[in-house]
Amino acid sequence: MFEQKLLENQVILVTGGGTGLGRSMAARFASLSAKVVILARNLERLEQTAAEIRKETGGEVLSLELDVRRPEMVDAALARVLREMGPVTGLVNNAAGNFLAATEDLSPRGFDAIIDIVLRGSFFMTQAVGRQMIDQRIRGSIVSILTPYAMTGSAFVVPSAMAKAGVLAMTRSLAVEWGTAYGIRLNAVAPGPFPTDGAWNALVPDGAVEEEVKKRIPLRRFGEHKELADLVAYLMSPSAGYINGDCITIDGGGWQKSGGDFNHLTDLDRGSLKKIFASMKARAK
Ligand code: HXC
Ligand code: NAP
Repeated sequence: MFEQKLLENQVILVTGGGTGLGRSMAARFASLSAKVVILARNLERLEQTAAEIRKETGGEVLSLELDVRRPEMVDAALARVLREMGPVTGLVNNAAGNFLAATEDLSPRGFDAIIDIVLRGSFFMTQAVGRQMIDQRIRGSIVSILTPYAMTGSAFVVPSAMAKAGVLAMTRSLAVEWGTAYGIRLNAVAPGPFPTDGAWNALVPDGAVEEEVKKRIPLRRFGEHKELADLVAYLMSPSAGYINGDCITIDGGGWQKSGGDFNHLTDLDRGSLKKIFASMKARAK
Protein backbone atom coordinates (compact mmCIF):
# COMPACT_ATOMS: atom_id res chain seq x y z
CA MET A 1 0.00 0.00 0.00
CA PHE A 2 2.93 2.38 0.60
CA GLU A 3 6.18 3.13 -1.21
CA GLN A 4 9.00 1.50 0.69
CA LYS A 5 10.72 4.88 1.22
CA LEU A 6 7.60 6.57 2.64
CA LEU A 7 9.33 7.40 5.93
CA GLU A 8 12.89 7.89 4.64
CA ASN A 9 14.99 10.42 6.62
CA GLN A 10 12.63 10.21 9.59
CA VAL A 11 13.53 9.40 13.19
CA ILE A 12 10.43 8.12 14.98
CA LEU A 13 10.09 7.39 18.70
CA VAL A 14 7.58 4.81 19.94
CA THR A 15 7.00 4.62 23.70
CA GLY A 16 6.06 1.14 24.86
CA GLY A 17 7.62 -0.07 21.60
CA GLY A 18 8.90 -3.37 23.03
CA THR A 19 5.51 -5.10 23.04
CA GLY A 20 2.07 -5.27 21.49
CA LEU A 21 0.87 -2.48 19.24
CA GLY A 22 3.98 -0.37 19.88
CA ARG A 23 6.15 -3.16 18.56
CA SER A 24 3.97 -3.58 15.47
CA MET A 25 4.05 0.15 14.69
CA ALA A 26 7.83 0.35 15.20
CA ALA A 27 8.36 -2.61 12.86
CA ARG A 28 6.12 -1.05 10.20
CA PHE A 29 7.94 2.29 10.39
CA ALA A 30 11.29 0.49 10.02
CA SER A 31 9.97 -1.42 7.00
CA LEU A 32 9.07 1.96 5.46
CA SER A 33 12.68 3.21 5.88
CA ALA A 34 12.37 5.24 9.11
CA LYS A 35 15.02 5.10 11.81
CA VAL A 36 13.12 3.90 14.86
CA VAL A 37 13.64 4.29 18.60
CA ILE A 38 11.67 2.10 20.98
CA LEU A 39 11.47 3.14 24.62
CA ALA A 40 10.04 1.44 27.72
CA ARG A 41 11.01 0.27 31.22
CA ASN A 42 11.97 -3.32 30.42
CA LEU A 43 15.29 -2.96 28.57
CA GLU A 44 15.85 -6.67 28.03
CA ARG A 45 12.51 -7.01 26.23
CA LEU A 46 13.21 -3.86 24.20
CA GLU A 47 16.58 -5.17 23.05
CA GLN A 48 15.06 -8.45 21.99
CA THR A 49 12.33 -6.63 20.05
CA ALA A 50 14.88 -4.29 18.44
CA ALA A 51 16.94 -7.28 17.28
CA GLU A 52 13.83 -8.95 15.82
CA ILE A 53 12.79 -5.78 13.96
CA ARG A 54 16.30 -5.30 12.56
CA LYS A 55 16.22 -8.89 11.34
CA GLU A 56 12.71 -8.59 9.85
CA THR A 57 13.21 -5.24 8.13
CA GLY A 58 16.95 -4.54 7.86
CA GLY A 59 16.12 -1.16 9.45
CA GLU A 60 17.96 0.90 12.05
CA VAL A 61 16.45 0.45 15.52
CA LEU A 62 17.65 1.89 18.82
CA SER A 63 16.25 0.67 22.14
CA LEU A 64 16.35 2.91 25.21
CA GLU A 65 15.27 2.26 28.78
CA LEU A 66 12.77 4.92 29.75
CA ASP A 67 10.07 5.51 32.32
CA VAL A 68 7.76 8.11 30.79
CA ARG A 69 6.76 9.22 34.30
CA ARG A 70 10.25 10.66 34.87
CA PRO A 71 10.90 13.91 32.96
CA GLU A 72 14.66 13.86 33.65
CA MET A 73 14.86 10.41 32.05
CA VAL A 74 12.84 11.66 29.08
CA ASP A 75 15.28 14.56 28.54
CA ALA A 76 18.30 12.24 28.77
CA ALA A 77 16.76 9.82 26.24
CA LEU A 78 16.00 12.67 23.81
CA ALA A 79 19.58 13.98 24.06
CA ARG A 80 20.90 10.51 23.29
CA VAL A 81 18.61 10.08 20.30
CA LEU A 82 19.77 13.43 18.91
CA ARG A 83 23.43 12.33 19.23
CA GLU A 84 22.99 8.83 17.86
CA MET A 85 20.14 9.10 15.32
CA GLY A 86 19.68 12.80 14.57
CA PRO A 87 16.69 15.08 15.24
CA VAL A 88 13.39 13.42 16.07
CA THR A 89 10.74 13.88 13.37
CA GLY A 90 7.95 11.76 14.89
CA LEU A 91 6.62 10.52 18.23
CA VAL A 92 4.00 7.91 19.03
CA ASN A 93 2.67 8.18 22.60
CA ASN A 94 1.78 4.52 22.98
CA ALA A 95 2.92 3.56 26.51
CA ALA A 96 -0.01 2.87 28.83
CA GLY A 97 -1.21 1.01 31.87
CA ASN A 98 -4.74 -0.14 32.58
CA PHE A 99 -6.83 -2.47 34.73
CA LEU A 100 -10.48 -3.14 35.48
CA ALA A 101 -11.72 -1.92 38.84
CA ALA A 102 -14.90 -0.78 40.54
CA THR A 103 -14.22 2.93 40.99
CA GLU A 104 -15.31 3.01 44.63
CA ASP A 105 -12.55 0.49 45.40
CA LEU A 106 -9.69 2.39 43.71
CA SER A 107 -6.91 3.55 46.01
CA PRO A 108 -5.11 6.88 45.41
CA ARG A 109 -2.01 4.94 44.30
CA GLY A 110 -4.10 2.84 41.92
CA PHE A 111 -5.51 6.01 40.35
CA ASP A 112 -2.02 7.55 40.11
CA ALA A 113 -0.57 4.39 38.53
CA ILE A 114 -2.65 4.97 35.39
CA ILE A 115 -2.75 8.78 35.34
CA ASP A 116 1.05 8.97 35.77
CA ILE A 117 1.81 6.75 32.79
CA VAL A 118 -0.88 7.87 30.37
CA LEU A 119 -1.59 11.54 31.14
CA ARG A 120 1.63 12.81 32.71
CA GLY A 121 3.89 10.49 30.69
CA SER A 122 2.34 11.50 27.36
CA PHE A 123 2.72 15.16 28.33
CA PHE A 124 6.39 14.83 29.34
CA MET A 125 7.19 12.99 26.10
CA THR A 126 5.26 15.44 23.95
CA GLN A 127 6.78 18.50 25.60
CA ALA A 128 10.36 17.19 25.34
CA VAL A 129 9.97 16.05 21.72
CA GLY A 130 8.19 19.32 20.85
CA ARG A 131 11.04 21.36 22.35
CA GLN A 132 13.57 19.44 20.27
CA MET A 133 11.48 19.82 17.10
CA ILE A 134 11.23 23.57 17.75
CA ASP A 135 15.02 23.89 18.34
CA GLN A 136 15.83 21.82 15.27
CA ARG A 137 13.15 23.48 13.08
CA ILE A 138 11.49 20.12 12.38
CA ARG A 139 7.85 20.22 11.25
CA GLY A 140 7.20 16.88 12.91
CA SER A 141 4.22 14.65 13.63
CA ILE A 142 3.05 13.50 17.07
CA VAL A 143 0.41 10.78 17.36
CA SER A 144 -1.13 9.59 20.63
CA ILE A 145 -2.81 6.20 20.90
CA LEU A 146 -6.14 6.63 22.71
CA THR A 147 -9.31 4.51 22.74
CA PRO A 148 -12.90 5.27 21.69
CA TYR A 149 -13.80 5.60 25.37
CA ALA A 150 -11.68 8.76 25.52
CA MET A 151 -14.77 10.24 23.85
CA THR A 152 -17.58 8.16 25.39
CA GLY A 153 -16.16 7.36 28.82
CA SER A 154 -16.41 3.79 30.13
CA ALA A 155 -17.36 2.02 33.31
CA PHE A 156 -14.58 0.24 35.27
CA VAL A 157 -11.65 2.01 33.58
CA VAL A 158 -12.23 5.52 34.91
CA PRO A 159 -8.56 6.55 35.42
CA SER A 160 -7.73 5.36 31.90
CA ALA A 161 -10.75 7.14 30.38
CA MET A 162 -9.83 10.35 32.23
CA ALA A 163 -6.19 10.13 31.18
CA LYS A 164 -6.91 9.35 27.52
CA ALA A 165 -9.48 12.18 27.37
CA GLY A 166 -6.81 14.50 28.78
CA VAL A 167 -4.34 13.41 26.09
CA LEU A 168 -7.01 14.15 23.48
CA ALA A 169 -7.38 17.67 24.93
CA MET A 170 -3.58 18.07 24.77
CA THR A 171 -3.60 16.92 21.14
CA ARG A 172 -6.28 19.40 20.09
CA SER A 173 -4.69 22.25 22.06
CA LEU A 174 -1.18 21.78 20.72
CA ALA A 175 -2.41 21.18 17.16
CA VAL A 176 -3.33 24.86 17.26
CA GLU A 177 -0.51 26.18 19.47
CA TRP A 178 2.40 24.37 17.81
CA GLY A 179 0.74 23.98 14.42
CA THR A 180 0.48 27.74 14.09
CA ALA A 181 3.90 28.62 15.45
CA TYR A 182 6.05 25.72 14.22
CA GLY A 183 4.12 23.57 11.74
CA ILE A 184 4.17 20.61 14.16
CA ARG A 185 1.11 18.35 13.68
CA LEU A 186 -0.60 16.49 16.51
CA ASN A 187 -3.21 13.80 15.99
CA ALA A 188 -4.68 10.87 17.88
CA VAL A 189 -5.79 7.39 16.92
CA ALA A 190 -8.49 5.53 18.86
CA PRO A 191 -8.25 1.77 18.32
CA GLY A 192 -10.99 -0.64 19.34
CA PRO A 193 -9.85 -4.07 20.53
CA PHE A 194 -6.61 -5.36 18.96
CA PRO A 195 -5.33 -8.57 20.57
CA THR A 196 -2.15 -8.02 22.63
CA ASP A 197 -0.93 -9.80 25.75
CA GLY A 198 -0.88 -6.51 27.68
CA ALA A 199 -4.46 -5.46 26.92
CA TRP A 200 -5.90 -8.97 27.20
CA ASN A 201 -4.21 -9.64 30.57
CA ALA A 202 -5.45 -6.30 31.91
CA LEU A 203 -8.94 -6.21 30.45
CA VAL A 204 -10.28 -9.54 29.19
CA PRO A 205 -11.27 -11.78 32.11
CA ASP A 206 -11.95 -14.90 29.99
CA GLY A 207 -12.66 -16.31 26.52
CA ALA A 208 -16.44 -15.90 26.85
CA VAL A 209 -16.00 -12.14 27.27
CA GLU A 210 -13.76 -12.11 24.19
CA GLU A 211 -16.59 -13.56 22.05
CA GLU A 212 -19.08 -11.05 23.54
CA VAL A 213 -16.77 -8.17 22.62
CA LYS A 214 -16.52 -9.41 19.03
CA LYS A 215 -20.32 -9.52 18.75
CA ARG A 216 -20.50 -5.84 19.70
CA ILE A 217 -18.40 -4.87 16.69
CA PRO A 218 -20.29 -4.47 13.37
CA LEU A 219 -17.41 -6.06 11.44
CA ARG A 220 -17.46 -9.02 13.91
CA ARG A 221 -13.72 -9.20 14.41
CA PHE A 222 -10.83 -7.63 16.27
CA GLY A 223 -8.37 -5.32 14.57
CA GLU A 224 -5.22 -6.59 12.88
CA HIS A 225 -1.98 -4.94 13.99
CA LYS A 226 -1.03 -4.10 10.41
CA GLU A 227 -4.24 -2.08 10.01
CA LEU A 228 -3.32 0.18 12.92
CA ALA A 229 0.37 0.34 11.97
CA ASP A 230 -0.49 1.45 8.42
CA LEU A 231 -2.81 4.18 9.68
CA VAL A 232 -0.17 5.58 12.04
CA ALA A 233 2.55 5.27 9.36
CA TYR A 234 0.35 7.39 7.10
CA LEU A 235 -0.09 10.01 9.85
CA MET A 236 3.70 10.10 10.29
CA SER A 237 4.25 10.62 6.57
CA PRO A 238 4.29 13.83 4.51
CA SER A 239 1.18 12.51 2.71
CA ALA A 240 -0.81 13.36 5.87
CA GLY A 241 0.66 16.88 6.00
CA TYR A 242 -2.76 18.57 6.17
CA ILE A 243 -4.21 16.37 8.95
CA ASN A 244 -3.85 18.18 12.28
CA GLY A 245 -5.80 18.07 15.54
CA ASP A 246 -7.93 15.08 14.63
CA CYS A 247 -8.68 11.77 16.33
CA ILE A 248 -9.17 8.87 13.94
CA THR A 249 -11.11 5.89 15.21
CA ILE A 250 -10.16 2.40 13.99
CA ASP A 251 -12.59 0.01 15.64
CA GLY A 252 -14.70 -1.74 12.99
CA GLY A 253 -17.59 0.59 13.87
CA GLY A 254 -17.76 -0.58 17.50
CA TRP A 255 -18.13 2.90 18.92
CA GLN A 256 -21.09 3.75 16.67
CA LYS A 257 -22.78 0.51 17.59
CA SER A 258 -22.61 1.40 21.28
CA GLY A 259 -24.83 4.43 20.57
CA GLY A 260 -27.88 4.45 18.17
CA ASP A 261 -31.20 3.44 19.77
CA PHE A 262 -31.97 0.66 17.26
CA ASN A 263 -28.48 -0.74 16.75
CA HIS A 264 -29.27 -3.71 19.01
CA LEU A 265 -31.67 -4.98 16.32
CA THR A 266 -28.65 -5.90 14.18
CA ASP A 267 -28.17 -8.78 16.65
CA LEU A 268 -31.27 -10.51 15.19
CA ASP A 269 -30.87 -12.46 11.99
CA ARG A 270 -31.74 -10.37 8.96
CA GLY A 271 -34.56 -12.63 7.69
CA SER A 272 -36.45 -12.49 11.02
CA LEU A 273 -35.88 -8.77 11.23
CA LYS A 274 -37.38 -8.18 7.80
CA LYS A 275 -40.45 -10.23 8.76
CA ILE A 276 -40.89 -8.08 11.88
CA PHE A 277 -40.55 -4.89 9.80
CA ALA A 278 -43.10 -6.21 7.27
CA SER A 279 -45.65 -7.09 9.98
CA MET A 280 -45.19 -3.65 11.55
CA LYS A 281 -45.74 -2.05 8.14
CA ALA A 282 -48.91 -4.11 7.64
CA ARG A 283 -50.15 -3.22 11.13
CA ALA A 284 -49.57 0.47 10.46
CA LYS A 285 -51.84 0.47 7.39
C1 HXC B 1 -6.93 -2.40 41.41
C2 HXC B 1 -4.66 -2.10 41.19
C3 HXC B 1 -4.61 -3.10 40.17
C4 HXC B 1 -5.83 -3.75 39.82
C5 HXC B 1 -2.61 -2.33 40.48
N1 HXC B 1 -3.41 -1.66 41.33
N2 HXC B 1 -3.32 -3.22 39.76
N3 HXC B 1 -5.81 -1.76 41.81
N4 HXC B 1 -6.96 -3.36 40.47
N5 HXC B 1 -5.86 -4.69 38.87
C6 HXC B 1 -3.01 -0.67 42.32
C7 HXC B 1 -2.12 -1.31 43.37
O1 HXC B 1 -2.89 -1.96 44.36
C8 HXC B 1 -1.37 -0.09 43.93
O2 HXC B 1 -2.16 0.64 44.85
C9 HXC B 1 -1.23 0.79 42.70
O3 HXC B 1 -2.20 0.34 41.74
C10 HXC B 1 0.14 0.69 42.09
O4 HXC B 1 0.41 -0.68 41.82
P1 HXC B 1 1.81 -1.14 41.19
O5 HXC B 1 1.74 -2.58 40.90
O6 HXC B 1 2.92 -0.64 42.08
O7 HXC B 1 1.81 -0.25 39.87
P2 HXC B 1 2.84 -0.17 38.71
O8 HXC B 1 4.03 -1.07 38.95
O9 HXC B 1 3.06 1.26 38.46
O10 HXC B 1 2.02 -0.86 37.51
C11 HXC B 1 1.11 -0.19 36.75
C12 HXC B 1 0.04 -1.14 36.22
C13 HXC B 1 0.67 -2.35 35.55
C14 HXC B 1 -0.87 -0.37 35.27
C15 HXC B 1 -0.79 -1.58 37.42
O11 HXC B 1 -0.33 -3.27 35.19
C16 HXC B 1 1.48 -1.99 34.31
O12 HXC B 1 2.59 -1.50 34.42
N6 HXC B 1 0.89 -2.20 33.13
C17 HXC B 1 1.51 -1.85 31.83
C18 HXC B 1 0.91 -2.68 30.74
C19 HXC B 1 -0.59 -2.51 30.59
O13 HXC B 1 -1.34 -2.27 31.57
N7 HXC B 1 -1.04 -2.66 29.35
C20 HXC B 1 -2.45 -2.57 29.05
C21 HXC B 1 -2.72 -1.42 28.18
S1 HXC B 1 -4.22 -1.80 27.37
P3 HXC B 1 -2.04 0.41 46.47
O14 HXC B 1 -2.92 1.45 47.06
O15 HXC B 1 -2.53 -0.99 46.72
O16 HXC B 1 -0.61 0.58 46.83
C22 HXC B 1 -5.15 -0.49 27.18
C23 HXC B 1 -6.35 -0.78 26.32
C24 HXC B 1 -7.39 0.28 26.38
O17 HXC B 1 -4.89 0.58 27.66
C25 HXC B 1 -8.62 0.11 25.50
C26 HXC B 1 -9.18 -1.22 25.17
C27 HXC B 1 -10.35 -1.17 24.20
P1 NAP C 1 0.99 -3.35 26.00
O1 NAP C 1 1.72 -4.32 25.13
O2 NAP C 1 0.81 -3.68 27.45
O3 NAP C 1 1.69 -1.95 25.85
C1 NAP C 1 1.94 -1.05 26.87
C2 NAP C 1 3.40 -0.65 26.81
O4 NAP C 1 3.60 0.48 27.64
C3 NAP C 1 4.36 -1.73 27.27
O5 NAP C 1 5.32 -1.95 26.26
C4 NAP C 1 5.02 -1.15 28.52
O6 NAP C 1 6.40 -1.54 28.56
C5 NAP C 1 4.87 0.34 28.25
N1 NAP C 1 4.87 1.13 29.49
C6 NAP C 1 4.03 1.01 30.54
N2 NAP C 1 4.37 1.87 31.50
C7 NAP C 1 5.43 2.57 31.03
C8 NAP C 1 6.24 3.61 31.56
N3 NAP C 1 6.01 4.11 32.80
N4 NAP C 1 7.25 4.11 30.81
C9 NAP C 1 7.48 3.61 29.57
N5 NAP C 1 6.76 2.63 29.01
C10 NAP C 1 5.75 2.11 29.74
O7 NAP C 1 -0.48 -3.10 25.44
P2 NAP C 1 -1.02 -2.68 23.99
O8 NAP C 1 -2.34 -3.32 23.85
O9 NAP C 1 0.01 -2.88 22.94
O10 NAP C 1 -1.30 -1.11 24.19
C11 NAP C 1 -0.60 -0.13 23.45
C12 NAP C 1 -1.43 1.14 23.40
O11 NAP C 1 -2.64 0.90 22.69
C13 NAP C 1 -1.85 1.69 24.75
O12 NAP C 1 -1.83 3.11 24.71
C14 NAP C 1 -3.26 1.23 24.89
O13 NAP C 1 -4.04 2.04 25.76
C15 NAP C 1 -3.72 1.37 23.45
N6 NAP C 1 -4.89 0.59 23.11
C16 NAP C 1 -4.82 -0.76 23.02
C17 NAP C 1 -5.94 -1.46 22.64
C18 NAP C 1 -5.91 -2.95 22.46
O14 NAP C 1 -6.97 -3.53 22.27
N7 NAP C 1 -4.76 -3.60 22.48
C19 NAP C 1 -7.14 -0.79 22.38
C20 NAP C 1 -7.18 0.58 22.52
C21 NAP C 1 -6.04 1.27 22.86
P3 NAP C 1 7.22 -1.67 29.94
O15 NAP C 1 6.35 -2.44 30.88
O16 NAP C 1 8.48 -2.36 29.51
O17 NAP C 1 7.50 -0.28 30.41
